[in-house]
Amino acid sequence: MSKLKGKVAVVTGASKGIGAGIAKALAAEGASVVVNYASSKAGADAVVTEIGKAGGKAVAVQGDVSKAGDAQAIIEAAVKHFGRLDVLVNNSGVYEFKPLEEITEEDFHRQFDVNVLGLLLTTQAAAKRLGEGGSVINIGSLVSRSFTPASAVYAGTKGAVDTITGVLAQELGPRKIRVNAVNPGMVETEGTHAAGVIGSDFEVGAKAKTPLGRIGQPQDIASIVTFLASDDSHWLTGERLFASGGMR
Ligand SMILES: NC(=O)c1ccc[n+]([C@@H]2O[C@H](COP(=O)([O-])OP(=O)(O)OC[C@H]3O[C@@H](n4cnc5c(N)ncnc54)[C@H](OP(=O)(O)O)[C@@H]3O)[C@@H](O)[C@H]2O)c1
Repeated sequence: MSKLKGKVAVVTGASKGIGAGIAKALAAEGASVVVNYASSKAGADAVVTEIGKAGGKAVAVQGDVSKAGDAQAIIEAAVKHFGRLDVLVNNSGVYEFKPLEEITEEDFHRQFDVNVLGLLLTTQAAAKRLGEGGSVINIGSLVSRSFTPASAVYAGTKGAVDTITGVLAQELGPRKIRVNAVNPGMVETEGTHAAGVIGSDFEVGAKAKTPLGRIGQPQDIASIVTFLASDDSHWLTGERLFASGGMR
């Protein structure tokens, strides 16, 4: 399995959850991977160790994507450690579900800073390093089109991710850099456990509305990201792939 042999990838927020799954899947296909984390050093180190044991190459790099200097340093780490950059996966994200009357300014800024500003800053830094054949994959969400109650701020961030994906595909297309999004439905991760989603009525409802009969696991998303990172998807740009087991 070497669809990504010789390629170098940065995965933001890869210390756990979907990002960790993506980092491992890209490495299994031969990519050298920068495993970014904000605060979970142990989680990122464990991902790097697992990749190394499987014969892959990875390095853990701390950085807050919502800070321009950190975003730049995360991207430059790819060049410093592995000599180039081919793939950026904008996965870092935070989410909180609250009804309209409970939303605070802090909730808004926290989620927009990481999910939207962070994505823009890392992509801006990456665009300086990506060449022809480069691939940017943004992790959006099904919530950008499901209009789920109590998701106004989070869904707003992911609506922005959808739009930015389309805009940057147009902007970077002439340089032969592709920009696509993968929009997961509910996925079991450390984040959805911590948010109380797993085990809640919300999870039961999601399962019931999913034709394939279960919620997602990180590897369900990682295989689609691997496809978008590889040259197999060379004619796709500006697309959003809803990865939700058929849940609408
Ligand atoms: N799980 C779902 O059901 C679901 C569904 C649709 C979309 N998504 C999207 O998928 C992505 C991953 O979700 P998840 O459930 O896997 O989340 P998670 O388990 O909570 O993991 C979030 C990751 O993002 C990192 N992160 C948070 N703030 C950051 C920052 N400022 N700078 C850099 N990294 C930061 C975290 O790093 P630290 O651990 O170091 O803080 C962690 O690695 C998010 O974009 C989310 O919106 C998730």
